[in-house]
Amino acid sequence: MKMMKAIQIPSKGEKMQLVEIPVPQPGEGQVRLRVEACGVCNGDSMAIGGAASEYPRIPGHEVIGIVEELGAGSTKWKIGERVGIGWHGGHNHVTGLTIDGGYAEYMVAYEDSLSSIPDELSALEAAPLMCAGETTFSALKNSKARPGDLVAIQGIGGLGHLAIQFANKAGYRTAAISRGSDKETLVRQLGAHLYIDSEKEDPAEALQALGGAKVILATAPNAKAISSLINGLGQDSELIIVAGSGDQLELSAMDFLKGPNTVRGSFTGQAKEIQATINFSVLTDVRPMIETFPLERASEAYDKMMSASTRFRAVLNISE
Ligand SMILES: NC(=O)c1ccc[n+]([C@@H]2O[C@H](COP(=O)([O-])OP(=O)(O)OC[C@H]3O[C@@H](n4cnc5c(N)ncnc54)[C@H](OP(=O)(O)O)[C@@H]3O)[C@@H](O)[C@H]2O)c1
Ligand SMILES: [Zn+2]
Repeated sequence: MKMMKAIQIPSKGEKMQLVEIPVPQPGEGQVRLRVEACGVCNGDSMAIGGAASEYPRIPGHEVIGIVEELGAGSTKWKIGERVGIGWHGGHNHVTGLTIDGGYAEYMVAYEDSLSSIPDELSALEAAPLMCAGETTFSALKNSKARPGDLVAIQGIGGLGHLAIQFANKAGYRTAAISRGSDKETLVRQLGAHLYIDSEKEDPAEALQALGGAKVILATAPNAKAISSLINGLGQDSELIIVAGSGDQLELSAMDFLKGPNTVRGSFTGQAKEIQATINFSVLTDVRPMIETFPLERASEAYDKMMSASTRFRAVLNISE
C-alpha cells in the first residue's frame, strides 16, 4: 500500500502530529491531488480547536495540487492539471473540517469544488488566494465602494494584506489599520495610501478626520476592536465583517442611524468566486507575501500565524 506523510489532529483537543497513513483513493465524482502547497489560515483553528465532525482529521483549506487520479465518473479534469480548492469542499463538505484537507502529500476532492490554476501563479503563490484572497476579493467586489472611495482594511494578516492589494488595484483610497507601527513599511509597499496605528490613535476618529470610510473590512478577530470601527463610517457606508470572532459586538442603534449605515458579514465563496479571484490577481499582479514551511513544521507555521507574526501568510511547501 502506498503511504503518505500528513499532519493529523488525532482527536479533539490534541495537538497536530506528523503521521504516515495510506494515500487516499478518490471515490465517485472525486479526484486525487498530489498536494503542492497549502496555506495556513486562521480558519484552521476550528479543526485544530476541536470543531471537526470527526477525528483524526487533516486540516488545511488553501490547497493547490496536481490531478493525479480520477475517481469513477470524474470527467471535469485531466491528469496533470493544476487545480486549487478552498473552504467549500463540495457536497456540503468543508475542506479540512468535515473531509480531510491539504496538510498532507495527497488529498481527495470533489471535482466540482476545484478551480483551475494558471501557469502565471506558482503553487505557493496561488494557495493563499483559495481562502484569504477570495474572501477579501469578493467582500470588496460586492461592497458599496467605488473607485476613489475611502476603504479601510482592519487587521493585517493573511486576509488583510491581500485585501490591501485588491483595494488598491480596484482604485480605492486604501487605509490600513494595524496594531503598532511595525507593519507600516510593508503595508505601504503593498498599496496602502494611509496607515492607521490603532495603538496611537482611535481608528474611527482617524477615518472621520479623512471624511469617513465608504467601506471598512474587519479581518481582525476581536469583537471590541470591530465594534469601535462603525464610528469611522461615512454616509450610506458599510462595515463588512469577515473575521470570525464568537464574542458579542457592542453596537448601539444610533451607530447604525448616523449614516445610516450597514453592518454585515461576508463569507468565503465557491469555486466560481475563487476562479474570479485568481483571474483578477493574474490580471493586476496581486500576489500574497508568504513565509514557507515544510509540512513537518506545520505546527510552527500555525503558531506563528496565531501570534500575528507571519509576514503575511504561512504556506506549507509540500511538493512544489
Ligand atoms: N469570512 C470568511 O469566510 C473567512 C475566511 C477566512 C478567514 N476568516 C477569518 O478571518 C480572520 C483573519 O484570518 P487570517 O487568516 O487573516 O488571520 P491572521 O493571519 O492571524 O490575521 C489576523 C490579523 O488580525 C489582527 N489581530 C489578530 N488578533 C487580534 C486581536 N486579538 N485584536 C486585534 N487584532 C487582532 C492582526 O493584525 P494586526 O497585527 O495588523 O493588528 C492579525 O495579523 C480570522 O478570524 C479567520 O477565521 C474568515
Ligand atoms: Zn480560510
